[in-house]
Amino acid sequence: MELYIDTANLDQIRQAHELGVLDGVTTNPTLIAKEGVDYGTRLADICKVVAGPVSAEVIATTYHEMLAEGKDRASIADNIVVKLPSTIDGLRACKALSDQGVRTNMTLCFQALQALMVAKAGAYLVSPFIGRIDDIGEDGMELIVKIRQIYDNYGLPTKVLAASIRHPNHLLQCALAGADVATVPFAVIAKIMNHPLTDIGLEQFLADYRKAFG
Ligand code: E4P
Repeated sequence: MELYIDTANLDQIRQAHELGVLDGVTTNPTLIAKEGVDYGTRLADICKVVAGPVSAEVIATTYHEMLAEGKDRASIADNIVVKLPSTIDGLRACKALSDQGVRTNMTLCFQALQALMVAKAGAYLVSPFIGRIDDIGEDGMELIVKIRQIYDNYGLPTKVLAASIRHPNHLLQCALAGADVATVPFAVIAKIMNHPLTDIGLEQFLADYRKAFG
């Protein structure tokens, strides 16, 4: 499974990149707003750090505007993936951009049929939002399972990018369900390698060694 970081914060991206296991980055307007920086400039800076796919979300909501903004974002760097909402206009823009060789990430996917449609339109990635579905008392992971099954049934090459991940167990369940990619906040990445038994075991090994050899 590929691992992306879900942030527009350059320090977090650099730290995650230094771990050597980072495959890409996703950003969105909220994450950019938190940073208070120009979206295009930040994307260019991120692409200098990470060679893998960097998702750049459009602000536009109509077909023609999405197309223009998507092309503009795609010109920032070769690894930019244009992120579009999973709406009717977004679907049309996905098809047009994909036909022109621009990779797309179809975001805000909350039902499996949206995922089927965007795959038919040539999307490179689809982003089902697990955490936000859990937030309304439903099971976000079921959506990952359904999309995986539909894509496998028809051999659709669109990658399932599990998004809105809130904790390590989300990540584990995504891996078990066969998500191709998971995009994860830095706080979750920081927790992945933590286990109390690892810490206790390490402490014990070192104490035993020190006792024997000083
Ligand atoms: C995905 O690309 C989105 O940026 C993100 O995962 C949304 O997560 P949230 O629901 O925690 O805002």
